[in-house]
Amino acid sequence: MKIFIGNDHTATEMKNKIVEYLKTNGHEVVNIGTNSNDSVDYPDFGKEVATKVVEEKAMGIVICGTGIGISISANKVKGARAALCYEDQTAILAREHNDANILALGARMIAIEKAVRLVDIFLNAKFEERHSCRVNKLNNQ
Ligand code: RB5
Repeated sequence: MKIFIGNDHTATEMKNKIVEYLKTNGHEVVNIGTNSNDSVDYPDFGKEVATKVVEEKAMGIVICGTGIGISISANKVKGARAALCYEDQTAILAREHNDANILALGARMIAIEKAVRLVDIFLNAKFEERHSCRVNKLNNQ
């Protein structure tokens, strides 16, 4: 699966661990986040990841300190459905009910091990077609 990943300065370490995990598990990863701890602006990365995800019908992961700012940014791109997840069940339901195509994480909110687990859960959960009417409404908003 092709996965675009973007992050701000709060999340470089978490991003690196997730990239390592994804590559180990055979995914094609495109890193478009910052690789430094110098301050940057999360909207630049949320927008770029979401644009690529929609254009290429791929999946995305966006990470900032809380996951809030970068998910707001990603969701401004038409066709992006970014879900800020913090517990296993949120990562499952984001896929099953919302057909989320972007996982948002908060690097200052959860441990790296938990973030990697949420990535795994998110990528392995499947959208349930019975929710497609609502997702279509989201796409046409
Ligand atoms: C950066 O200090 C912080 O505001 C950002 O990473 C994020 O948490 C915003 O939502």
